[in-house]
Amino acid sequence: MEFDVNKIRVEFPALHQEIYRRPLVYFDNAATTQKPWQVINAISNYYEKDNCNIHRGVHYLSVTATEAYEEARREIRQYINAANTHEIIFTRGTTEAINLVASSFSKKYLGKGDELITTIMEHHSNFVPWQQVCIEKEATLRIVPLNDAGELDMEAFRGMFNEKTKLVAVTHASNVLGTINPVKEIIEFAHRTGVPVLVDGAQSVPHMTVDMQDLDADFYAFSGHKMYAPMGIGILYGKEKYLEEMPPYHFGGEMIRDVFTDHTTFNDLPFKFEAGTPNVEGVMGLAAAIKFMQALPVEAMSAYENSLLAYATEKLESIPGLKIFGTSPNKASLVSFLLKDIHPFDAGTIIDKLGIAVRTGHHCAMPLMDYLGVPGLIRASFAVYNTKEEVDKLYEAIQKVKQMLG
Ligand SMILES: Cc1ncc(COP(=O)(O)O)c(C=O)c1O
Repeated sequence: MEFDVNKIRVEFPALHQEIYRRPLVYFDNAATTQKPWQVINAISNYYEKDNCNIHRGVHYLSVTATEAYEEARREIRQYINAANTHEIIFTRGTTEAINLVASSFSKKYLGKGDELITTIMEHHSNFVPWQQVCIEKEATLRIVPLNDAGELDMEAFRGMFNEKTKLVAVTHASNVLGTINPVKEIIEFAHRTGVPVLVDGAQSVPHMTVDMQDLDADFYAFSGHKMYAPMGIGILYGKEKYLEEMPPYHFGGEMIRDVFTDHTTFNDLPFKFEAGTPNVEGVMGLAAAIKFMQALPVEAMSAYENSLLAYATEKLESIPGLKIFGTSPNKASLVSFLLKDIHPFDAGTIIDKLGIAVRTGHHCAMPLMDYLGVPGLIRASFAVYNTKEEVDKLYEAIQKVKQMLG
């Protein structure tokens, strides 16, 4: 099926605005994507008609909202091909999903002297939680280094396993380097010694189809807002065998079965991990975003995003003094770079004044910035609605930065 970017752009109202009297070019999609009408309408429909607290009422609205909420859970299960609907936990996002696992998994399975494996390319939300549980439990965090292309050193990774290894936490795609990690191979290797793997899917789910049963991940976390859905909603997929054994993360309404003055028994999955009033509007928006993505021709869409990446890489590489960080052939559609010794913040400010939204800074990956020996990077990240003409504008903006600061 042909991929018509103009038809897609029509669906995103935020793209059709001017900033500094120039048409907005939005290249900050790895931070959050813009939202299509389908998602915006799903949220307002929910508030116009169905708004009600779920699971706790027998009246019409409560039942309707509960049904829609649980139907969304079934759709998400199907979208990521998880084996069971109760393995889908609604969270506020990737960060909360990973914190949930770090907290609950470590209570059950981690002890003094144990080891966890993560990588130097992780976002803080898949690094700091593990660092903190290791400090608390007197365990060791082992950190996989990278090669020059910004890919994981798989030999070092394999060499880190021993009888004390309790879990691997790795990102599917790096939000800085773009590298798509060989998570299937990582999972297969870890499972040989019975070690579970948590995958941070924040940057992968927006760009590719993921299949939980094929990957065999033990935990997989992602955020709605990076895949055209609202902020404040995300998913933790977890295998039943772990989720059943792990203690609850938060306590309160909905996650209980019976409460006595001296003890409490807990609800079944997935409710055990969903304490309190959930983000029902977010779930409605996420279900709508998934429908939006399912309606896109997947292969044409990823070919299109890859062609944008290839085009941007070629253009930017041709600029003398510009260095791209992350040169793996297997990349998500983003490009991070520096321009000579110009500070990323100064460059980003000029690029912004030319109507182009790029992200500058440490990208929530300070250990990676230290590892690369840079103060920060400039990142342009692409989504289905971006165009080559927009990449040309970025190219021209970078020339302008060079003229002004170079
Ligand atoms: C790779 C990666 N992991 C985790 C996160 C955290 O996502 P959230 O802030 O939606 O929880 C991000 C956000 O940029 C990310 O890029």
